[in-house]
Amino acid sequence: APGAQQFIPPQADTLDDLRAAAAGCRGCELYRDASQTVFGRGDATARLVFVGEQPGDMEDQKGLPFVGPAGRLLRRAVDDAGLDPSHIYLTNAVKHFRFELRGKRRIHQTPDRVHITACRPWLVAEFAQLKPEVVVVLGATAAKALLGPTFRVTRQRGELLPWPAAAQHPEDFHRVPVDNAGGTADAPPARLLATIHPSAVLRADDQDKAYEGLVTDLTVVARVLT
Ligand code: URA
Ligand code: SF4
Repeated sequence: APGAQQFIPPQADTLDDLRAAAAGCRGCELYRDASQTVFGRGDATARLVFVGEQPGDMEDQKGLPFVGPAGRLLRRAVDDAGLDPSHIYLTNAVKHFRFELRGKRRIHQTPDRVHITACRPWLVAEFAQLKPEVVVVLGATAAKALLGPTFRVTRQRGELLPWPAAAQHPEDFHRVPVDNAGGTADAPPARLLATIHPSAVLRADDQDKAYEGLVTDLTVVARVLT
């Protein structure tokens, strides 16, 4: 797969420029079956960015991230953690919906490593515009995109982590420089915090407990940002 890099206009200097270009991305095969590219949305001056996995069925139809059930739960957790919902930016590690058709139903399929790697340049480009202070990594796919394949969300969730150096996982970062992703002359590198994905909360046996865990992790972020 050629990857998204060649679809990123070198002179793009706003998120809107990136969003417009991403609409035509063919960096991996996922664009073929999905309805549209689902780019990030939210406050362009946000200090806090959330990275999910990929758009779901509803997001694919609406063209906006986190507008379905997982998004609703995330919004509630943001509120309950005391974070300001109008000052966040929401995006995904992979920007097309990957699914399998069963009859007329579109069943979510977890993106593979090739999709994560192919799509990663969009994420890096978003960070370069946003220069966030904190990036919240929701679940294993986003963690793979940003922290490498050996990172375990279950083991390190809720911990504020330094921005990962490119050299740590050269095979994953796939020649896309990560150094511009939050660390620039006018902004220090972002810190990361990994936590459970809101969809995993919805699937948990004990939903209340899983939800409480998500809010607890986000409270760590709220403390950093106030
Ligand atoms: N799950 C995600 O990871 N992202 C979305 O946008 C919606 C559901
Ligand atoms: Fe491009 Fe990402 Fe969509 Fe693949 S998933 S076509 S890399 S935007």
